[in-house]
Amino acid sequence: MRHEQQRLQSKQHTILVVDDEPFILEMLEDYLKEQYTVLTASSAEEALQLLHRHPEIDIIISDQRMPGMSGIEFLKKSLETHPNAERIIITAYADLESVLEGLNEARISYYFPKPIDLYQIKLAIQQLVEKIDLWQSNVELIEQLKEQNRLIEQKISERTKELQLALQKLREHQLLQQRFFNIAVHDLKNPLSTLRILCTEIGKLVDNAEVQQLLSMAQDPLNTMEELVQDILTVTRLQAEQDVLEIQPVNLAELLQASVYEFAPQAEKKNIQLILDLPEDLPPIEGDYRRLKQVFDNLISNGIKYTPPGGKVTITASANQQAVTVAVRDTGVGMTPEDLEKVFGEFQTLSAKPTGGESSTGLGLFIVHKIVTLHHGRITAASEGPGKGSTFTVTLPLRQPAKQAS
Ligand SMILES: Nc1ncnc2c1ncn2[C@@H]1O[C@H](COP(=O)(O)OP(=O)(O)OP(=O)(O)O)[C@@H](O)[C@H]1O
Ligand SMILES: [Mg+2]
Repeated sequence: MRHEQQRLQSKQHTILVVDDEPFILEMLEDYLKEQYTVLTASSAEEALQLLHRHPEIDIIISDQRMPGMSGIEFLKKSLETHPNAERIIITAYADLESVLEGLNEARISYYFPKPIDLYQIKLAIQQLVEKIDLWQSNVELIEQLKEQNRLIEQKISERTKELQLALQKLREHQLLQQRFFNIAVHDLKNPLSTLRILCTEIGKLVDNAEVQQLLSMAQDPLNTMEELVQDILTVTRLQAEQDVLEIQPVNLAELLQASVYEFAPQAEKKNIQLILDLPEDLPPIEGDYRRLKQVFDNLISNGIKYTPPGGKVTITASANQQAVTVAVRDTGVGMTPEDLEKVFGEFQTLSAKPTGGESSTGLGLFIVHKIVTLHHGRITAASEGPGKGSTFTVTLPLRQPAKQAS
């Protein structure tokens, strides 16, 4: 059974035998036709015609000495139509030298001397058939891989297009939402200041202690709302990178003194010591005064907000040839390692909660980080853990890189 299968499989191979001696042709045909499809030609001319008509030929056996064209010459010509076929040449001893010379050029796999040994030829053919089959299955495998690759690439490109489309839609949607949100926040500004003015006017008109107390109680939520609106508008502007810094020489010592002066009442109210410890010769830096003030206001405000009464907030600074470093250190509630990872993100209210009922939206440090980055500076947060205080360190370069001419 197995033998039969092999025989049928081998029959898939086609051998062309070329010899001008009918006796040899017949003998080879008889011997091989059991296993292979055999075509015969009695001259090189006839063989070339057969090659044209039979692209499936995969083994060519040729005699060397034939009238008209030698075997070597014929086999060289056969390369044009059948470059991948296997070639065998049969030669008389007298022609061996010229055959050997042409072996490589005609890409001949085997040569056999006359008188021919049929068994040897059969063995050679079997080897060549195995080689051809192996080659063929490799080619098929490579084709399959190429096809699979092509399909995968096609799928990827389709998915990429879909994703790009979805992303574009999402962006448009986000933009629309953002625009709507900005308008809403912006439009809160006027009613808020109207409310504040109304409170002041009512205060002037009504001379009643209870009304005055209610009006003063309205100040805190009004402040919180105004701060929130202001923060959100700042974030929107910073994110859209519309905020072009107004760079000028900034005296950080003066700026920090102004901040400390403004926060002193808040610190005093919570019985927190606010200490400013600066070297005398802090060099000026290049920056946007208003934005840098926002940075240190936020850090000092956080220091006070996240430190229980009786604690301390200390601001120190140092400078070298390139930069000024300011550290805001508190003895407050501290931060966990997880907090430290998220602390500069948007809307991050972490494990530390305000210790004096202050408001907390989680935008301050996000804004701080943006502003420091816009100044080509760096900010880091450190804490040895809950209850062990926190330190925020800002490093700002003395010079800002020259703006690219647009
Ligand atoms: N000095 C600090 N000590 C401990 N935790 C802090 C400190 N500063 C900030 N945090 C934590 O980081 C979070 C984010 O701070 P951030 O300043 O961004 O927001 P916030 O103070 O909550 O609100 P706001 O937007 O009003 O500043 C805070 O909610 C707090 O949990
Ligand atoms: Mg804050």
